[in-house]
Amino acid sequence: MHRSFLTLALASATITPAFAQADMIGSGISPSAAAHSQTRPINFATTAPTSGALVILMRNATLPANMVDAATTQALNAAIASAKFEGKEGSSLSLRGIGGYARIVLSGVGAEGDRITHIRNASGKAAQDLRDEAQQVTIIGGLNQDEAAAAALGYAMGQYRFDRYKTVDRKAPPTNPVTIISSDAGSAEALWQSRHAALAEGVALSRDLATEPANVIYPETFVDRVRAAFGNTANVKIEVLDEPMMRKLGMGSLVGVGQGSRRPSRLMIVEYRGAGDGAPLAMVGKGITFDTGGISLKPGAGMWEMKADMSGAANIMGALLSLAKSKAPVNVIGVAALSENMPGSNAQRPGDVVRTMSGKTIEILNTDAEGRLVLADANEYIVANKKPGALVNMATLTGSIVGALNDEYAGLFSRDDRLAAAIAAAGTATGEEVWRMPLHKNYLDDMKSDIADIKNIVEGGGPGAGLGATFVGFFVDKNVPWAHLDIAGVNWADSSGPVTPKGASGWGVQLLDALARNWR
Ligand code: BES
Ligand code: ZN
Ligand code: MN
Repeated sequence: MHRSFLTLALASATITPAFAQADMIGSGISPSAAAHSQTRPINFATTAPTSGALVILMRNATLPANMVDAATTQALNAAIASAKFEGKEGSSLSLRGIGGYARIVLSGVGAEGDRITHIRNASGKAAQDLRDEAQQVTIIGGLNQDEAAAAALGYAMGQYRFDRYKTVDRKAPPTNPVTIISSDAGSAEALWQSRHAALAEGVALSRDLATEPANVIYPETFVDRVRAAFGNTANVKIEVLDEPMMRKLGMGSLVGVGQGSRRPSRLMIVEYRGAGDGAPLAMVGKGITFDTGGISLKPGAGMWEMKADMSGAANIMGALLSLAKSKAPVNVIGVAALSENMPGSNAQRPGDVVRTMSGKTIEILNTDAEGRLVLADANEYIVANKKPGALVNMATLTGSIVGALNDEYAGLFSRDDRLAAAIAAAGTATGEEVWRMPLHKNYLDDMKSDIADIKNIVEGGGPGAGLGATFVGFFVDKNVPWAHLDIAGVNWADSSGPVTPKGASGWGVQLLDALARNWR
């Protein structure tokens, strides 16, 4: 008895506790370092091959002139008539056994609405339809250079894959190219290379960050991944604040959210200057790498989706990547407010009071309303240090916005009509649509705390998304044009959309890219 007890004591004394080493948190086994499967290379040409898989983008029931031979035209017209295919946006008709083609997909663009968006969508849908098609793909449709580049962008977004953790039955993906046919093939390709390819890369970065599980992406590794994506891109400066630095700056609200986690918080600031000294547009994103709710613990069902509670930050980094890599003539700052919201013996409690960098105090009545807490300090830091010309927040902030707008729109809250209009226009132009929501002055009265300056929730709920937005706006200088996008309903696709395979959508990368290019 005595001897075996001693052996046990000695043995355990030699075991280094897992928490002694930061890189040993959790299993200590990284899930996978494998790359995703290759996707189709995208190229452009003026004439189409007469074999492989053919995608025809259709405005109506009429085939584009002089694209395929007479026999194929005749067979296609018979199929169109028989299926009553009208080229309506979102409709498609998949055919086999026509001419020398392995497959022909008619993809509807429609005659109304934004043609560029619809072409992008139709091409993205074709990419998903042809996901397992080994043959080379050709896309035709009488496309000019802008339309051809939009088709390329849609295809790139639609063929996105995240399969690095699959080791069994991983289907060999198609590696044959997709070729977009345009009489302006040269300039379409230049447009793709100089701009749209970077946008597709930004969307893929955002989707990767949001899809990665929270044992892989946490504040420190989010920073690493984003750094790696930027590499040595010109005119980009990256700063990262760690917890000691943030404590020193008095960022008690941001640091408080992460204090229950073994993964320390970070504030990542990516600055891209492509237009000299002008005041930058600042975009500050919620980067909760996992949201358990903290001590105000969430129920278990669906909690896994909270691995994507950093989508706002991910989208902003995706947009910055697109702008920097395409050398856009703009000045932008992208910020990721990164914490993991966990329960634990050091976690903050309901009722705790924290002091923000601004000096204002917050009574935390619910630790699950944490996004607003990290944004309060991140916004203050940027306004105080970077003097932005405007500030846009993007966050998976509330379940309430999902009930109000579902996945059709993101919620837009703004005190500035000009900024709100610019965001709405960027949303319409990119197909990432927003719906403006109110910021009634009563909301702030409702958030008065008995013992601090503001409380982070109103018990009983109320207009949840508006209260969250009001809280965030409370910490932003009234002289800075400010808007907040609540993307909790759009950041994750439960089923596939035209350019969005099921999963992390990257919703907002295109909108922010367009906003930055047009904002003056
Ligand atoms: N990350 C959640 C919001 C969320 C919910 C995003 C569903 C995506 C899907 C956020 O941190 C949260 O928990 N919000 C609370 C706020 C409440 C406690 C005032 C909510 O919406 O329930
Ligand atoms: Zn959250
Ligand atoms: Mn929460």
